Amino acid sequence: MARIVVVGSINMDLVTTTGRRPEPGETVLGRGFEMVPGGKGSNQAIAARRAGAEVDFVGAVGDDLFAAELRAVLDDAEVGTRRLRSVAGPSGAASIVVDSEGENSIIVVGGANAAMTELADGDLAAIADADVLLCQLEIPVPTVLAATRHARTSGTTVLLNPSPAQELPPEFWSEVDIAVVNEGERARLGSALDHVAHVVVTRGADGAVYRGPEGEFGHPGVPVRAVDTTGAGDTFTGALAAHWHEGPATALAWACTAGALATTKLGASASIPSRTEIEAALPARRSGG
Ligand code: RIB
Repeated sequence: MARIVVVGSINMDLVTTTGRRPEPGETVLGRGFEMVPGGKGSNQAIAARRAGAEVDFVGAVGDDLFAAELRAVLDDAEVGTRRLRSVAGPSGAASIVVDSEGENSIIVVGGANAAMTELADGDLAAIADADVLLCQLEIPVPTVLAATRHARTSGTTVLLNPSPAQELPPEFWSEVDIAVVNEGERARLGSALDHVAHVVVTRGADGAVYRGPEGEFGHPGVPVRAVDTTGAGDTFTGALAAHWHEGPATALAWACTAGALATTKLGASASIPSRTEIEAALPARRSGG
């Protein structure tokens, strides 16, 4: 079983469903509203745990009404919360609009995630003890840099999902072992990704492609009826991390299957499939080629 540490964000997602997303300046009628725990870090931690890894989460919640529920979603998933701190002020929050095609628009407000400016000795020890460090870019970038540098010096594999895409120091990329990006992020990051040994590009319903020492190959999309793509990339990334030790081809199969299943329900953390659900969908993929 892989041991994974996620250093990242946790948010309350405020999810509105609607027939179509409004144009600038337009008001449309919504169909429903739900509050669902999310955040790229938390989603990926839960996805890795459900896919079969042992996971610890390093992050922060606020002292508001959302905090207890955010902590509980990690506890319920059996993600370790010893390194989850509570800070004064609001928790992270995301306003999400999901249309009838299952596509979304998201605005994230950092809240407590922005307070993740330092790593404690216990955080560093957890990173050093792990097989894989999993990071995203919804906490301050200097903290991500500190975590990845410590992982590299400790022999812990660094998996970065550089989302939301933003400018990073050029030297940073050589500290990343595996990058998981969508097609937009790949275009935006350009040649920076040339410094990363293993690059996985997600292609939505069309699956994903891998490039690295194992060659270049793709994995087809897993056909499902998508109702909400929110968190599908996070589920993909968490499952990939959990199965990376089995090699990129196997990890990609788990990731594509888990990511596809995550689109079949509304809400980020609520839609992450269990290991049993992923395994049940894997044989169909294999026999289908
Ligand atoms: O990737 C989906 C996530 O992005 C949502 O859960 C939201 O919180 C934002 O972080």
